[in-house]
Amino acid sequence: MPRLSWKRFLGGCCGGANAGVEPPKVPKRRVAAVNSPSTTKISYSDISSATPPLSPKDLSLSLVGSHLHAFTLQELKAITRGFSMSNFVGQGGFGPVYKGMIGENLRPGLAAQTVAVKQLNLHGAQGHKEWLAEVIYLGQLRSQNLVKLIGYCYENEHRLLVYEYMAMGSLENHLFNNVLAPLPWLARLKIAVGAAKGLAFLHEADNPVIYRDFKASNVLLDQNYEAKLSDFGLAKDAPQGDDTHVSTRIMGTNGYVAPEYVMTGHLTTKSDTYSFGVVLLELLTGRRSISSSRPSREKDLVEWAKPYSRDPQRLHRMMDPILEGQYSSTGAQKAVTIAYQCLSQSPKRRPDMRSVIESLEPLCGLRDIPPGLFVYTADDGAREKSRTEKGEYTIEVEEERELHVHRHKTRLSHHNAAVSRVKNVGREWEK
Ligand SMILES: Nc1ncnc2c1ncn2[C@@H]1O[C@H](COP(=O)(O)OP(=O)(O)OP(=O)(O)O)[C@@H](O)[C@H]1O
Ligand SMILES: [Mg+2]
Repeated sequence: MPRLSWKRFLGGCCGGANAGVEPPKVPKRRVAAVNSPSTTKISYSDISSATPPLSPKDLSLSLVGSHLHAFTLQELKAITRGFSMSNFVGQGGFGPVYKGMIGENLRPGLAAQTVAVKQLNLHGAQGHKEWLAEVIYLGQLRSQNLVKLIGYCYENEHRLLVYEYMAMGSLENHLFNNVLAPLPWLARLKIAVGAAKGLAFLHEADNPVIYRDFKASNVLLDQNYEAKLSDFGLAKDAPQGDDTHVSTRIMGTNGYVAPEYVMTGHLTTKSDTYSFGVVLLELLTGRRSISSSRPSREKDLVEWAKPYSRDPQRLHRMMDPILEGQYSSTGAQKAVTIAYQCLSQSPKRRPDMRSVIESLEPLCGLRDIPPGLFVYTADDGAREKSRTEKGEYTIEVEEERELHVHRHKTRLSHHNAAVSRVKNVGREWEK
C-alpha cells in the first residue's frame, strides 16, 4: 500500500515525502541506544538539519560506534549479483529490495550472512531524508524486535540500506497473499506480541521514538515468526518533559493513521498504538485495513468489524475464514477487545504498548483451539474421511466433497507445517 502524505487529503500544499515545510521543530534531543547505554550518540534532528548536508565521510564519522558498515556500491553489486532480478524480493515506496549474500572476508568484523539490500529509487517519492532517518535511528537502536541494519551505501546520488535477511518476508504477504501458507492462530498471536514489543522498545527508550509507519508491510518475519519492525523513514523523536505531542506534517499510510493525528498534526506514541490496533484487527480478520474491492460498508475494516467485536455470539463472523475456526474463542474475544482499546478515538484512553504486551502474551497459552473439521487417515495417503453425521452422498455431492477435501488437505498441510515452525521443532524452510 503506498505511503501517503495526508496533506493531500486535507487540501494542503505538500506533495511527496520530500516536499512541504515542517512546522517549527521540536527541541533537539538525542536518540539513545538502550541496549548499549554508553553510546548516546547522534540525533536525527541534528543530522538532518545540517547545512550543507553531511558528506559520506562526516556521516561515517558520526556513526562510529554504531557497528554500521559503510559499503561501496561495487560491494553491493557483487553481493546481489549485479542487482539481478533473480535476487529481487520486493518493492515499496523507497525502491527495490534484493536478496544478497555476504561472503567470508568481505570486511573485518563482518560475518558471512544473507542480507536484504534496499536501493533508493532516485525518481521515487522518498529520498535522502528517509534514507538518513533509517540510518540514524536503526543504526543506533538494537532490539530483537527491530530488523537489524548492517550497513548502508552513500556514494554520489546512490543511497542503499543493508539489512539482516528476514526469511519469511513481510506480514502483509502472509496475510493477504493467497499463495503463501495461511498463518495459524498461535503464529498470529506471536507476531502481534513481537510487533508490540518492537513498538514498546521504541516508546520506552531513554529518548523515546515514535515509529509513525506501523503497518503489516513493515512487520517482517524471521523463520520462527519472530516479528521485527523495519522502515524508520518516518520515525520521529517523541515529546519529552512538558511537551505532550510533536507537531508535524501528517505522514503515514492510509488506513493506519490515528484520527487525531490526521485532524491536528499532533503526534504521540499513542498514534503508534492506534496503528497497532489496526494491524491486530488485520491479523484477526485476514482483511486489509482499507480495500476498495470490498462492498462499501465493508471497505473500512475498523468500522466493519466493530459490531461483531461487541457480540461474542457473532465474533466468529469477523474472524479470518481461512483459520476455519481453529482458534481459541476466549483468546479471540480478548484480542478483539485489546484491538478496540488501541483504536479508541481518544489517545488518552488507548493503552501503552507495555500494557498491550501484558494483555496479549497470556493469550498464547490458551489451548481451547478446536481441531480441524476433517480427520485424515494415513492408508497409503489415499483415503480421506470426512467427519459427518450422514454417510450417504449423491455422486455430485461426493465429488464436491472430494474436491473440497483435496483443497482443505492442501491448506491443512501448509497449516500444519506452519504450526510446527511456530513450535520451533527445528524444521527450517528455505524460501
Ligand atoms: N530485511 C528484509 N528481509 C527480507 N525481505 C525484505 C526485507 N526488507 C524488505 N523486504 C521485502 O521487500 C519488500 C519491499 O519492502 P519495503 O519496506 O521497501 O516496502 P513496503 O513496506 O512494502 O512499502 P512501504 O514503502 O510502504 O514501506 C517487502 O515485500 C518485504 O517483504
Ligand atoms: Mg516497508
